[in-house]
Amino acid sequence: MHSMTHASSSQASRLAAAVAAVHAHVASVPRVALVLGSGLGDFADTLEDRVVIPYGEIPTMPQSGVQGHAGKLVFGRAEGVECVAMQGRVHLYEGHSPHDVVFGLRLMIRLGAKIAILTNAAGGANPRLEAGELMLIEDHLNLTGTSSLLGPNEAELGPRFPDMSVAYDLRLRELALAAASDARFQLARGIYAGLLGPSYETPAEVRMVFKLGADAVGMSTVLETVAARHMGARVLGISCITNKGAGLSEGVLDHSEVQETADRVKGRFVGLLRGVLARIARGEAG
Ligand code: HPA
Repeated sequence: MHSMTHASSSQASRLAAAVAAVHAHVASVPRVALVLGSGLGDFADTLEDRVVIPYGEIPTMPQSGVQGHAGKLVFGRAEGVECVAMQGRVHLYEGHSPHDVVFGLRLMIRLGAKIAILTNAAGGANPRLEAGELMLIEDHLNLTGTSSLLGPNEAELGPRFPDMSVAYDLRLRELALAAASDARFQLARGIYAGLLGPSYETPAEVRMVFKLGADAVGMSTVLETVAARHMGARVLGISCITNKGAGLSEGVLDHSEVQETADRVKGRFVGLLRGVLARIARGEAG
């Protein structure tokens, strides 16, 4: 299993080997790292002057066990911004260690990205959120029961006790709200709760996380945000609310419903990403 394979070597040395392998293919320094969640993977195919590196060609890069979803790192420009995107991410529920879950993101940051845009599909825990809405993540609850910083701290990556007071960058949140406003749609704002999965929540769990202050529930992102902040990268998080959380609608939850909604919203989601990138290109991120 991936979870144990790399336990003995330090993150920093793994990252150095992966950086060297990537640099054999691409010389450009990315400014923005993107993690493309359900339905958004196609965005990577629209980058200009693309360089594609399958995860299998990057030493120690964890791959999803799902056939055909092993994943690729895609370099290229969008709206004039040098980007690197993960087309496919691995999840804790697949059995990957918390370190492996964030390895790809750490790699993109090590390659030079100072801004991480994390996207995901999520269920609405707040009854006011409707399927198909996009939600700006203002803060999160890490309910996975683990941390991407578990174990000895590697000081060359970041501090032992990184601050999480403003995990989701304020300026980037403003850019996202402005981009949504320009595109004439309402961007919801809320708190994302990251759970282990892979089962969807029970109705009681959805009510619990809502009472705890979460508006959306999902199975990713929180470990990535912690790792990015650990390394000093700025984070923008956006959820596609693909369904009402369990118990908040008539039906039962099904992965195909999640994918259908993500596909339906994709155009708006990509428009929002492009609007944010265009603002970054204009220097509005600071
Ligand atoms: N719960 C957890 N993860 C999800 C959901 C959900 O309802 N929808 C999409 N990802």
